[in-house]
Amino acid sequence: VLEKKIAVLPGDGIGPEVCNEAVKVLKAVAEKYNHTFRFSYALMGACAIDETGSPLPPETLEACQEADAVLLGAIGDPKYDQNPHAKVRPEQGLLGLRKALGLYANLRPVVAYEKLLEHSPLKPERIAGTDILIFRELTGGTYFGEKGRTADTAFDTCTYSREEVARVAHLAFKAAASRHGILTLVDKANVLETSRLWREVVQEIAKQYPKVEVAYLFVDNAAMQLILNPRQFDVILTENMFGDILSDEASVIGGSIGLLPSASIGDGVALFEPIHGSFPQAKGKGIANPMAAILSAAMLLDYLNLAEEAKCVREVVQKAINSNILTQELNKKSPYTTEQVGSFIAYTILEGVEVAPH
Ligand code: IPM
Ligand code: MN
Repeated sequence: VLEKKIAVLPGDGIGPEVCNEAVKVLKAVAEKYNHTFRFSYALMGACAIDETGSPLPPETLEACQEADAVLLGAIGDPKYDQNPHAKVRPEQGLLGLRKALGLYANLRPVVAYEKLLEHSPLKPERIAGTDILIFRELTGGTYFGEKGRTADTAFDTCTYSREEVARVAHLAFKAAASRHGILTLVDKANVLETSRLWREVVQEIAKQYPKVEVAYLFVDNAAMQLILNPRQFDVILTENMFGDILSDEASVIGGSIGLLPSASIGDGVALFEPIHGSFPQAKGKGIANPMAAILSAAMLLDYLNLAEEAKCVREVVQKAINSNILTQELNKKSPYTTEQVGSFIAYTILEGVEVAPH
């Protein structure tokens, strides 16, 4: 039997609830395909600060480094958002983990599900058929540049090296080559020096991928194009902060941010997490959509070279969507809780048949 170690960081808010469902689904996959997944739980984010004083305790980092993959729920707590003077913040845990694990590429797939087209505030005919893969650079740019503060001024610098651009660009080009062959670089090269470096490096690398067509868009225009005509995009490659902003915007196409998974990869262990936040208002109410976490688990399976297993999870999620087994943000009258949606998916994987949730 194949044996894999998965570190689970449930985090804050709805993080633990959606993580439970993703773990439930991974357990169903292990049972169905006769694998052994060993889960080890660790603290990160606000819960880790409460417990240990640190958003990323050393034992959490160790648990991640020893694992084959990391599954993360969500982190963040409003008590820090309202306090600009907080010395430690939950986000430092996530950013520190991305940096420490060298997770330089963040993959965020955005698809419009046929059955959910009506749920998007955008016109169905505009978004039908959308299938975008965003490559967000994850360990550079303003997030990690030199920062400073005096009484009346503050700064965050944006720095990128040729190498930092090149390594994520290669991954994006390879993905584009295996998809529809279009890569769009999103930058602000009319204003920013870092963006001009991105263009230079991407133009150079493009020569190695003659089958990939490259488009260049300024980020302001890209923000507009994304909701005007999302089908023009295949792979989007962009720097850290632009990718953060554009991926939330793109989630509107799918009808709910509760559907969007992500994979953060580097040269070692990889991390999988929904792109949504900790949604503290929903904590404990059973209304959080576990699908983004479950689809993140599917990306985790792909990463472990378990392609058939990953496909099975995606198909069952699709089945749940088609059968209206949805949480309330996608169906106001839905009687299904986070836990019931997760159980439906787990049982369906195991039985190979649809079972109504209890
Ligand atoms: C994300 C989140 C994080 C980010 C926050 C929580 C630091 O918004 O993963 O998109 O900005 O990267
Ligand atoms: Mn974000």
